[in-house]
Amino acid sequence: MTENKAIEALLQEARVFAPPVEFAMQANAADDAVYREAAADPEGFWARMAAQLTWFTPWQRVLEWDPPHARWFTGGKLNVSYNCLDRHLIGARRNKAAIIWEGEPGDRRTLTYWELAQEVNRAANVLRDLGVKKGDRVTIYMPMIPELPIAMLACARLGAPHSVVFGGFSAEALRDRILDAQAKLVITADGGFRRGQVVPLKRNVDQAVAQTPCVEKVLVVQRVGEREQVMMHRDRDYWWHDLMLQASTRCDPEPMDAEDILYILYTSGTTGKPKGVVHTTGGYLTGVNATTRLIFDLKEDDVYWCTADIGWVTGHSYIVYGPLSNGATSLMYEGSPDYPDWERFWSIVERHGVTVLYTAPTAIRSFMRWGPELPARHDLSSLRLLGTVGEPINPEAWMWYREHIGGNRCPVVDTWWQTETGMIMITPLPGIVPTKPGSATRPFPGVFAAVVDEQGQPVPPGQGGYLVLTRPWPAMLRTVYGDPDRYVQTYWSRFPGVYFTGDGAKLDEDGYFWLLGRVDDVMNVSGHRVGTMEVESALVDHPAVAEAAVIGRHDPIKGQAIAAFVTLKEAAARDGQDHTAELKSHVVEKIGAIARPDQIFFAAELPKTRSGKIMRRLLRDIAEGRQLGDTTTLADPTVVQALKERYEEEEEA
Ligand code: WTA
Repeated sequence: MTENKAIEALLQEARVFAPPVEFAMQANAADDAVYREAAADPEGFWARMAAQLTWFTPWQRVLEWDPPHARWFTGGKLNVSYNCLDRHLIGARRNKAAIIWEGEPGDRRTLTYWELAQEVNRAANVLRDLGVKKGDRVTIYMPMIPELPIAMLACARLGAPHSVVFGGFSAEALRDRILDAQAKLVITADGGFRRGQVVPLKRNVDQAVAQTPCVEKVLVVQRVGEREQVMMHRDRDYWWHDLMLQASTRCDPEPMDAEDILYILYTSGTTGKPKGVVHTTGGYLTGVNATTRLIFDLKEDDVYWCTADIGWVTGHSYIVYGPLSNGATSLMYEGSPDYPDWERFWSIVERHGVTVLYTAPTAIRSFMRWGPELPARHDLSSLRLLGTVGEPINPEAWMWYREHIGGNRCPVVDTWWQTETGMIMITPLPGIVPTKPGSATRPFPGVFAAVVDEQGQPVPPGQGGYLVLTRPWPAMLRTVYGDPDRYVQTYWSRFPGVYFTGDGAKLDEDGYFWLLGRVDDVMNVSGHRVGTMEVESALVDHPAVAEAAVIGRHDPIKGQAIAAFVTLKEAAARDGQDHTAELKSHVVEKIGAIARPDQIFFAAELPKTRSGKIMRRLLRDIAEGRQLGDTTTLADPTVVQALKERYEEEEEA
């Protein structure tokens, strides 16, 4: 199905599912007055949400808004690790599971709140002994093991902003992120497990750190042991387990200003260079705490599982900070859904009695392909609520999820948000809002969204436009690290005073939002953000390549697949070799496997406008098998016609 047809199908969706009565009766958010109250007094609403946290010093003002700069809960002081740990150590929660972890090889570990607090205090002391102070940046490059949230919380305890880099990124990508943040210390592991293989994390760190003079120390967790040989550099590298053994279990939490940085997280944008999205302490924690409680409806005995990797924002907000600040049990799984077999997720749900599951449409579409018999072999009756995130979900996948995983009994919450928003922004509240397959429904209370045209004017229902956010929200990014102009330019300049999301959307007659995908040069591959320009830069970095244009082509499982159109330099074009594999691995080396092009198409020329701009829109038309759009601005329209014909020949062959 081409993308246009998929969107058409989405817009004709008419099914509605009311919240199940049994669910609504017990829901954390059960009264739709919350929407009216928050709309009438958003600051009052957010102040009530912030009051759910423990503050060392109360705030003086809820919001100072000097567009596009917001400060939330100014004057307030708090510590995120205190809110995620210490305050749960009184009463029954002390011995409750904070983290239930399962490694890919099948090893398991459960940490109670008490145990987690001990580990975090120790780790904070280790970091302090290695010279980390309030304000120092720490890069974390780790597999999905409990030491990852422990390291994050230890940084938060000291007031040292962390920058977690997804373990699938290459050494070069890691180097760039370390340099941009000017990190003083890197926390990593010897390796991690992925589909039975070892990912050589420490080796990548060695390669990266050879070119990052800012890094003084490297702390290494042992995960894979003898499966990977690691070199420890004297006076630079330390084993985590050695230092943890001697560290004290008491480290007082640093009182942080509400607006102090909690973390930096790099994400892809429309240029080749990723942006360091900056999140602060009070507003961010308020946003993720409230959304987790009200959307995922967490109760004392829930086992909540978000299947994302903590290397992405979803893991930051909805594996670590949201659930733990609510005193919930958060399940973490190290590996991939297809290892050792296609039933891994369902055996985890069954084994641990998972009650709330939060995953991505791309995973759901894989499960569909693998067949409903696989989940049917497991007892999934513990599940009571399902969530999805990361990309638009097609109604068919939504329905399949509801039926085959949720037994037609669990509400499905499709949650729209971004690294930049920090928290979920558009979503149903499962006990209140009737859902429609494929729609993220309504803005969360206290969030204001609109769909506008080129001029920034709201468009009528049924008409597509740009999704914007019209008022500040507490978990919003505060800036782009080290590049305040880029913050203003990227998000606040297209429509002054209004946040531009980069997404297209449509409103229906009921005021429901339907997300239509990115409208900029950002691709969404299996729910991961990849910039077209990043991949293009990686390609033209290869000595054989003259020019490259990259587009996201509709893909039935991954959402989008990466297609690259490349022109080779003379010598390479004539050498009679196939450069496909070489170019793909070059991109993997520059960025990581998530950016590996699915397809490389070699062309003698790329379609350009008279002013020399490559027309990516036409390349998308070609790759998705559509009629070519408007070609009148092209310098030479025959180029694109020839390209289309050759492309189709190759596709058939
Ligand atoms: C897309 C992930 C439709 C969107 C939390 C957004 C979605 C980008 C949804 C952010 C959804 C995320 N429906 N599209 N429910 N959730 N997106 O920064 O294009 O990795 O702009 O944050 O993912 O990706 P990011």
